[in-house]
Amino acid sequence: MPEQPTPYVLAVITASVRPDRIGPTVTGWLLRRLDRHPGAEVDHVDLADLDLPGDLAGGGDAERFTKRIARADAFVVVTPEYNHGYPGPLKTAIDTAYAEWRAKPLGFVSYGGASGGLRAVEQLRGVLAELHVTTMRTGVMVPDVHAAFDAHGELRRPGPAEAGLAEMLGQLDWWAHTLRRGRTDRPYLG
Ligand SMILES: Cc1cc2nc3c(=O)[nH]c(=O)nc-3n(C[C@H](O)[C@H](O)[C@H](O)COP(=O)(O)O)c2cc1C
Repeated sequence: MPEQPTPYVLAVITASVRPDRIGPTVTGWLLRRLDRHPGAEVDHVDLADLDLPGDLAGGGDAERFTKRIARADAFVVVTPEYNHGYPGPLKTAIDTAYAEWRAKPLGFVSYGGASGGLRAVEQLRGVLAELHVTTMRTGVMVPDVHAAFDAHGELRRPGPAEAGLAEMLGQLDWWAHTLRRGRTDRPYLG
């Protein structure tokens, strides 16, 4: 039997921080599925729990956040769409770390109105390319998010999201293991 690779560290980042946000419902759906995905050790990074001042000098939780990004081998960002973009606190979080993002893969779970957050995702791809992050082609998108979940936080029509997640995790697993090995073999200089 081929040797099983050690689980990779997957940071799941909840991007919305509004007091009455639906982000935790969407993230909860994802985390329950990741519980059944033994190849990944999940670290849930909820931006609402963090004080990120957005200062290059650091401060607040910046150092702790950066260490969690450094420890991660891969990321999933759970993001809403605000005015055809992504939330400001997510940009602050992205800008808080730098080399710690590099040569790592990232997938998206997006949500919103009719577009399912796709415009936010497409903007993020350009930002993350600057940080040498490899974004997954396939993602999960949840349109009409407030009607999409039932009272238990489960999707009323789970099919498309489950299929998207399975495909995305297949891509993320491959990139996470391959890039972890690559970073170990020789430093990524960018
Ligand atoms: C300021 C603001 C702008 C929004 N703009 C969009 C938008 O451009 N496209 C969209 O699909 N939904 C938009 N929405 C709807 C959000 O996707 C929806 O409210 C969702 O619940 C936001 O995520 P959150 O509750 O986790 O913050 C907007 C919501 C807010 C609060």
